[in-house]
Amino acid sequence: MKIKYLVAPLILIITIVLLGWLFKERITSDLKARGYLEYTPDEAITLAYDKCSGCHNSAKITNYCFRCGPPFIVVVRNMRTLISLEKGKPGKEGLPAISDNEAVTIVQVWNALIGNWEEGWRKKDLIKMMEGDQALIDLLNTPPSERKIESALFGKTVPGGVVRKESINPELPADK
Ligand code: HEC
Repeated sequence: MKIKYLVAPLILIITIVLLGWLFKERITSDLKARGYLEYTPDEAITLAYDKCSGCHNSAKITNYCFRCGPPFIVVVRNMRTLISLEKGKPGKEGLPAISDNEAVTIVQVWNALIGNWEEGWRKKDLIKMMEGDQALIDLLNTPPSERKIESALFGKTVPGGVVRKESINPELPADK
């Protein structure tokens, strides 16, 4: 085989490797947002703060409690809706959306750090409040003990936040 037939593929491979290396962070964060790679618990916390403090500060979340309103899975569903409404406004197109995997990750972070009150609500009502958001419905149907991020972070606290004892303990069987 003539050497010249090897040059083009070689250049192509080098270019791909180089681009991959240059955009490594961008590519891995994209893969994570799409759910092809998993977030570590620490990355999940960073993601939750990033995505949830764009419009209001995080105190709105750390002060949230079971008396304040529905569980975080519903809050995150509502925030996804708010973001898409907001993005429709002129000048706001750049507002970052929350992908399915990001939403699923963020719910688990706040559930673990602040509290999970899904148990106190009827499943049927919660599913209705998901407005057909399949990724979150699937999460709702996963017991907290089987949610990787939520069980890894359970019991941790954040400044300004308290893990309230009314939270579901993921160590308990799901039907408890
Ligand atoms: C598009 C901007 C925007 C983003 C991004 C956003 N929020 Fe909000 N959030 C709002 C607005 C506006 C309100 C007040 C209106 C309301 O309560 O519906 C609010 C209110 C809240 C409340 C208080 C609700 C209550 O009933 O007291 C919580 C908790 C909350 N957000 C959590 C979050 C979380 C968690 C995220 C990340 C997933 C997030 N927000 C991202 C705009 C946003």
